[in-house]
Amino acid sequence: MKFTKEVVEMIKIFLIQNVTANPDTLTAMTCNHFQITKPTVYKYINELMEDKVLEKTGSGRFPKYQLVKTVYNWEYENKNLEEDIIWSKVIAPLLIEINSNVKEICQYGFTEMANNVIDHSGAKILAIELTVDYLKTKIRVADNGIGIFRKIQQSLGLEHPDQAILELAKGKFTSDPENHSGEGIFFTSRVFDMFFIFSHQLTFAGFGNEDGTMREEKDDLPGTWVIMEINKNSPALLKDIFDEYADPGKDPGFHKTRIPVKLMQHEGESLISRSQAKRLISRFDRFSEVILDFEGVAQIGQAFADQVFRVFPNKYPAVNLKTINTVPDVKNMIKRVQSTK
Ligand SMILES: Nc1ncnc2c1ncn2[C@@H]1O[C@H](COP(=O)(O)OP(=O)(O)OP(=O)(O)O)[C@@H](O)[C@H]1O
Ligand SMILES: [Mg+2]
Repeated sequence: MKFTKEVVEMIKIFLIQNVTANPDTLTAMTCNHFQITKPTVYKYINELMEDKVLEKTGSGRFPKYQLVKTVYNWEYENKNLEEDIIWSKVIAPLLIEINSNVKEICQYGFTEMANNVIDHSGAKILAIELTVDYLKTKIRVADNGIGIFRKIQQSLGLEHPDQAILELAKGKFTSDPENHSGEGIFFTSRVFDMFFIFSHQLTFAGFGNEDGTMREEKDDLPGTWVIMEINKNSPALLKDIFDEYADPGKDPGFHKTRIPVKLMQHEGESLISRSQAKRLISRFDRFSEVILDFEGVAQIGQAFADQVFRVFPNKYPAVNLKTINTVPDVKNMIKRVQSTK
């Protein structure tokens, strides 16, 4: 049976989009999905292999398939480096077939993360890896320096390095206010489809413009490893993300933030004390609007709520404090402290 060009294209796109999650059942699932025979599916798989889009990894009667990945690696001594030069001379020339919005995002993410290594890590080595396949571009920027969470912990005198993740999620945190404004990680993490920071035994994971999460790892990974991944057909625009956190009533810039409060509940800790609240609200006065996302928070204590929702707004009336995803217990506690104004 002969298919139209459009149907062939659809089958090939299906193969490409499903191969990563179904490396060994790809043929069967494609047969089922389109109600076509195995030889037909093999024909299109073979064409995709000839075009270097797919490759076979298993052999014999049970072949496995995967997207062909091209991986590039570079290592630099962290001395007199300039991130924009590395971008334009080394990385950008390898991304010629990428849409301009995605290329701009890659440029922003790469130069921000490489600049962090140069200015904050104290590392001897900057290691970069670029991985490209038919669907995605992945950039890894790694260093062997102090480690981002430890650096923030030291700079703020925090008790645990995992408290540093909250500061990154807020945005506008910098350990070097004379030369930096604390924007790089906030915006980079939101504009890529996937964004990870691995450092020692902590991982920060962000998926697009959703709130990030944190996990503890078994392995102790020295330094800081940032991994950013974006689909080649992502419609994201860097400008949209900047605009979302800008305030139309103010000069252009970073004025709004959204904070996942659950990041404070490390090791199942309840949110009850004024000290916890003070950690949450520190630097809120630098924003004109703060959205507190209570997803995953079942309850909060009276002292915590009083500090955040009565003491802080009385002191800083210009900051518009909003809440989202509050369950009834949390909502009621907020109402209770606000009624004693
Ligand atoms: N590779 C790293 N090693 C150690 N610390 C880091 C690293 N990257 C970031 N940091 C820490 O995280 C903070 C926040 O980084 P971020 O890029 O968001 O802001 P910034 O670099 O301070 O300011 P901007 O990006 O606006 O110039 C830094 O100020 C620094 O303390
Ligand atoms: Mg930075």
